[in-house]
Amino acid sequence: MRFLILSDIHGNKHALDAVLADSTGQWDQVVCLGDIVGYGGHPNEVTAWVKQNASTVIRGNHDRACCGDEALEWFNRPAQQAALWTLEHLEPAHRQYLQELPPGPVAVANFWAVHGSPADEDEYITDRSDAEVAARYMPGEICFFGHTHYQGGFGVRRGRVWELAPPKGKEVERCHELENDTVYLLNPGSIGQPRDHDPRAAYALFDSVTKTLAMRRVAYAVEAAQKSIRDAGLPAWLADRLRVGR
Ligand SMILES: [Fe+2]
Repeated sequence: MRFLILSDIHGNKHALDAVLADSTGQWDQVVCLGDIVGYGGHPNEVTAWVKQNASTVIRGNHDRACCGDEALEWFNRPAQQAALWTLEHLEPAHRQYLQELPPGPVAVANFWAVHGSPADEDEYITDRSDAEVAARYMPGEICFFGHTHYQGGFGVRRGRVWELAPPKGKEVERCHELENDTVYLLNPGSIGQPRDHDPRAAYALFDSVTKTLAMRRVAYAVEAAQKSIRDAGLPAWLADRLRVGR
């Protein structure tokens, strides 16, 4: 089975559209790792697409916040403003859909899906030591996570931890053949708000039979996404950061 792995779309319809065009014909099922909304100007359009097309969806912290189910004190000011705007503009059916999303880990084929980490849906896995700790909570060998908005991953075997590199510079893809008897924590990156200094939308394709992972980047209409954020009256910083991928 070939999976399209999406995370942290954050209401960015333009980035999602580019990823779908780029991955046409290359997947059988969609897995979404949460943070469907928050920050971007098209929460209803993106939620509708995920609801209709993704076979597995995990809730993210912004999905909880944008439904009013989460205190906003942990969010910075622009994120709070975006959450309140999204709460106000989400159609009731979409709000209910987001409210009912499960936390991870959820099993899919031969891997697991979480938002933050296998131990805690709100925890960030950012470096090798985080990955080593997270590996102790793994329900299986392979886990896809999001939340950090950094594309990449970690392999853990017998006390050794190494990184799986994402595409760099002008590369559009990096492939990794996953090995047996190894724990993998894999981040497809963020579609709608990358923070790894690459403004291109990030996603992953995973073949669960051959255990082949392709981390991919695709350029999208950043200016159009920025305009929708500004037109919504959301903080300008949320639009500005899309151009630099921070
Ligand atoms: Fe996120």
